[in-house]
Amino acid sequence: MSKKLQDAYSLSSVEDTINLYKAWSKNYDRDFAYKNNYKSPQNVVKYFLKYSRKGDSPILDVGAGTGLISKYLKKYSSSKLHAIDISKEMLDQAEQKKNYEKIIVTDLNQKLKIADNIYGAILSAGTFTHGHLGPNIFGELLRIVKPGGLFVITIHEEVFCKNGFKQAIENLGKKIESLNFHKVNIYGKINKQEKLKDKTIIAIFRKAINSDHL
Ligand SMILES: C[S@@+](CC[C@H](N)C(=O)[O-])C[C@H]1O[C@@H](n2cnc3c(N)ncnc32)[C@H](O)[C@@H]1O
Repeated sequence: MSKKLQDAYSLSSVEDTINLYKAWSKNYDRDFAYKNNYKSPQNVVKYFLKYSRKGDSPILDVGAGTGLISKYLKKYSSSKLHAIDISKEMLDQAEQKKNYEKIIVTDLNQKLKIADNIYGAILSAGTFTHGHLGPNIFGELLRIVKPGGLFVITIHEEVFCKNGFKQAIENLGKKIESLNFHKVNIYGKINKQEKLKDKTIIAIFRKAINSDHL
């Protein structure tokens, strides 16, 4: 595992998160994503395209970083796309991809300044992982999604049970529907010998149509 990824997995404060991604932002795509054949953004887009319906719009990319999801999504979808992340510098890189209609710099652990029932879909790659966001933000994300809105999010396999994601999703009960999981490799082949072995769970579900009454 690269030193930068090791550091990212050990983050324990907002300040450290902002500083790490500030330093990483300009090289993240080349030195992390492309070098390691990082597949999570493509996989999120693949499952979004499989499960989405007309009307799952606008889309919010949670922990959007440099905007890799947008790079793959925009080839297939013209839906309005917004990015949210704590790192201004990562979002500056995302903005340069020119695929986002709106960029929001904020700490997702705080109450969001976003009205209820706004988004048709939430996508997220690589952000529910070691040292990053926990399941405590699911409530806020559900609040800002329209009834029936779609979630396609990756959750690193190693934190799925340990950090309470599985339990938190089960606890959502009737507030969500059409739940399914797919376990996939985070990285593709780098060369004939090498491949990082980490796996992620892609959690897919919809906010229940009548969830506001539950
Ligand atoms: C590994 S990067 C993933 C970026 C992008 N989704 C991708 O797949 O390439 C994780 C992102 O989560 C963001 N992040 C971490 N903690 C956050 C928080 N509390 N609020 C908002 N964003 C956060 C980081 O700034 C970083 O851009």
